[in-house]
Amino acid sequence: MPDSCLQIANLPTHVAIIMDGNGRWAQQRGLPRLAGHRAGTENVSRVIEAFSDEGIKFLTLYAFSTENWGRPQPEVNGLLQILAEMIDKETENLFRNGVRLMHLGRIEELSLELQKAVRRTVKRTESNTKINVCVAFNYGGRAEILDAVRRLLVEGIEASQLDEEAFSQRLYTAGMPDPDLIIRTAGEMRLSNFLIWQAAYAEYYTTPVFWPDFGREDVQQSLLAYSQRQRRFGGL
Ligand code: IPE
Ligand code: IPE
Ligand code: MG
Repeated sequence: MPDSCLQIANLPTHVAIIMDGNGRWAQQRGLPRLAGHRAGTENVSRVIEAFSDEGIKFLTLYAFSTENWGRPQPEVNGLLQILAEMIDKETENLFRNGVRLMHLGRIEELSLELQKAVRRTVKRTESNTKINVCVAFNYGGRAEILDAVRRLLVEGIEASQLDEEAFSQRLYTAGMPDPDLIIRTAGEMRLSNFLIWQAAYAEYYTTPVFWPDFGREDVQQSLLAYSQRQRRFGGL
């Protein structure tokens, strides 16, 4: 365990991050937006390592939303390209660090090549147990809810059999704990269609830091802030 570890008692089990501000990071430096996406993607393994060192068991990263397809085509293509390169470059590193990688979202809408790369990495790391990292790519909370409803309809579930647990089991996150802490970088105060069902009782943390600059100290600050929150879940 590195000395930089916080070793606090009240840690979240599941941290989810809205990785925002790549564009502004680039703009601030007079660089093209894609340079920001590259820097942001390169930051991912650094942040995974920091959360893993702190003992976090589930980390979900919002990388590309169902609404992000609406950006200019060169930006969308560039983002897809950067992701594909990263998967190839980082898989062995993730594997060595005990990371189990999973995907959340409509994978079937991605290119066949990207689907294959994602499935390969998921398979390669499936026996790892140090930290579960879910990459939300082509993810939308409303799409996820609709997909769950479609599954329930196809299964022909009785209305009387449907409860919150049964519904949760049809979401992409089936079997995972709900996020305890949701972090958003770059200062925005909105969910942007992220884990809208699962976030019902999550604690929020926002920081003005742009995603490519979000580092180990920011990880620790977010966890310290969380440890001081009092969660009540509607009770007293
Ligand atoms: C987040 O950075 C990455 C994605 C949404 C894909 P942005 O690209 O949204 O950066 P800003 O918000 O324009 O600064
Ligand atoms: C949210 O960021 C999506 C991701 C981080 C992948 P956006 O930049 O797309 O969100 P809005 O448009 O500011 O709400
Ligand atoms: Mg943004």
